[in-house]
Amino acid sequence: MTYQVILPAAGQGKRMGAGKNKLLLELDGVPIFIYTLRVFDCDDSCSRIILAVNEDEKREIERLLAQFGIKKEVKLVSGGSERQYSVYAGVKVLENDEDIVLVHDAARPFIDSEQIQRLVEAAEQYGAAILAVPVKDTIKRAEGNKIKDTIERSSLWSVQTPQAFRTFELRKAHEQALCDQYLGTDEASLVERMGHDVIIVEGNYDNIKLTTPEDLFFAETIIAKRKSLKEKRS
Ligand code: CTP
Ligand code: MG
Repeated sequence: MTYQVILPAAGQGKRMGAGKNKLLLELDGVPIFIYTLRVFDCDDSCSRIILAVNEDEKREIERLLAQFGIKKEVKLVSGGSERQYSVYAGVKVLENDEDIVLVHDAARPFIDSEQIQRLVEAAEQYGAAILAVPVKDTIKRAEGNKIKDTIERSSLWSVQTPQAFRTFELRKAHEQALCDQYLGTDEASLVERMGHDVIIVEGNYDNIKLTTPEDLFFAETIIAKRKSLKEKRS
């Protein structure tokens, strides 16, 4: 089965501190969001790409999509003041209600098609699925700097994107959240509050979200690792 994908890319990148949208920063000569786009451009199961962008970056993004040879048509929509509103701008132009839709942060350029496929299969079977990895650190809950309790780590997951849903269910969850003025940090939280089960598919620790400046060093290491693996194989 094919899927559509919404890629929110309309942030400001404040924590990256680059003075512009972090997604336009280059790694090895290629803008970050282009890495993300390439994965979906090359995936035959991806039938449609919707990219939520800042109005004043539209032209530059269109130019970069052409310059870096993205083959599929990319539907650009104007993002909103919060990530959830940017995703909703994409939800409004979704087609094929019975299809699976993925939402994936453009700021996670190291997603790969194998993980996408496992996620889509889970969403087809269960209706809603997300990628996540087991938490590595011990997590404590505190009030101020005083520890209140230590949370059992074996039940904790660090949540990533993509997150996959049935199209009509994601639309319903977004409309309900808007009605209730509920703002979530991911799509699953909107679908969970509708009473739907959401399944976790174990992902990969490489699928980081580029958020703060040190993440760029991790990103360079991941790119170097992939290059050397590719060279060894050829
Ligand atoms: N995003 C968006 N619209 C917003 C806010 C965020 O489309 N109003 C997108 C970002 O471009 C990014 C993804 O959502 O691809 C995850 O957001 P985050 O990592 O928080 O990026 P920024 O919001 O750009 O960064 P910051 O919070 O540091 O400003
Ligand atoms: Mg943000």
